[in-house]
Amino acid sequence: MLITGGLGFIGSALARHLVKLEAKVTLVDSLIPEYGGNLFNIHDIQDRVTVDLSDVRDGPAMARLIKGRQFLFNLAGQTSHLDSMTDPLTDLNINAAAQLSILESCRLHNPEVKIIFASTRQVYGRPEYLPVDENHPLNPVDVNGINKLAGEWYHLLYNHVHKIRASALRLTNTYGPGMRVKDSRQTFLGIWIRQLIERNPIQIFGSGKQRRDFNFVDDVVDALLLAGAKSESEGELFNLGSKEHISLEELAATVVRLNNGGRYELVPFPADREVIDIGDYYGNFGKIDKALGWSPHVSLEEGLARTLTYYKQHHAHYWD
Ligand SMILES: NC(=O)c1ccc[n+]([C@@H]2O[C@H](COP(=O)([O-])OP(=O)(O)OC[C@H]3O[C@@H](n4cnc5c(N)ncnc54)[C@H](O)[C@@H]3O)[C@@H](O)[C@H]2O)c1
Repeated sequence: MLITGGLGFIGSALARHLVKLEAKVTLVDSLIPEYGGNLFNIHDIQDRVTVDLSDVRDGPAMARLIKGRQFLFNLAGQTSHLDSMTDPLTDLNINAAAQLSILESCRLHNPEVKIIFASTRQVYGRPEYLPVDENHPLNPVDVNGINKLAGEWYHLLYNHVHKIRASALRLTNTYGPGMRVKDSRQTFLGIWIRQLIERNPIQIFGSGKQRRDFNFVDDVVDALLLAGAKSESEGELFNLGSKEHISLEELAATVVRLNNGGRYELVPFPADREVIDIGDYYGNFGKIDKALGWSPHVSLEEGLARTLTYYKQHHAHYWD
């Protein structure tokens, strides 16, 4: 098994599950400081995985790494929406061009591989209806959404034309132990957790009324594994999502309650964020439920409590 972005939040959680299943796992990650890669994410499994600090933009390195693999969990990505607007070409090169180059390596060196690609609900942009299903129009509001869309479509194209089995999961807000909490580059919930533990007020941008859905990381790992295991995933893209959706203000109140202390405040939206905000979003995950039998199991309450416990114990490895 090869996991690109394997030292990141979701990639390392996937690696932990695969190691439990006795799989032979190689993690590729370039550990670019602004992204979510962190060696501490694999501190408990480091002796049972192989780490390769290559960059997915390095074609020859990827060709070497892809040869002979049964599965490629393709999770490496630039995840910051804001960074994609200030440095759009880096986002293009990682989220789109490198994806095409990875697929070319698969076509030339390992057409038998099965690929699962981590895409994003950002491809839909501002929802026209809720919950958003896979037939919703695609109107990305930022460069990241456009490049991730290209990345996922390259995967489907290679499935249809070159018969390289591939599927894409459109992840919604994913949270849990191992996420980047240093800043809000990966998710606003990350910086909220840091603000709470450092006893600073959680800052909610805007009215706090925006509704969102969240998946605990273990549920996302289950979806990745199911997509890998089942042939029904091939050539398909699927939304993930949750049975619950919640406003940001309710979410902030929930984490404050679970933390037994803290506070939040509503602050004006910074202009550069407001212009790419998508408003309310929650997804319909009926397609993956029907095709692969996936639905999330960890409630928001439980997942947030587990996340807080983790960062209270391990924050030194994430922001000190
Ligand atoms: N976390 C979420 O809420 C969320 C939502 C939607 C989609 N996704 C997608 O899921 C995937 C994993 O996200 P995550 O939350 O684990 O983020 P993450 O930043 O923790 O993980 C991504 C990993 O990719 C690595 N990486 C980035 N560029 C690379 C490059 N050029 N070469 C090699 N490695 C590189 C980073 O170092 C990092 O470890 C991403 O593709 C992201 O777009 C995540």
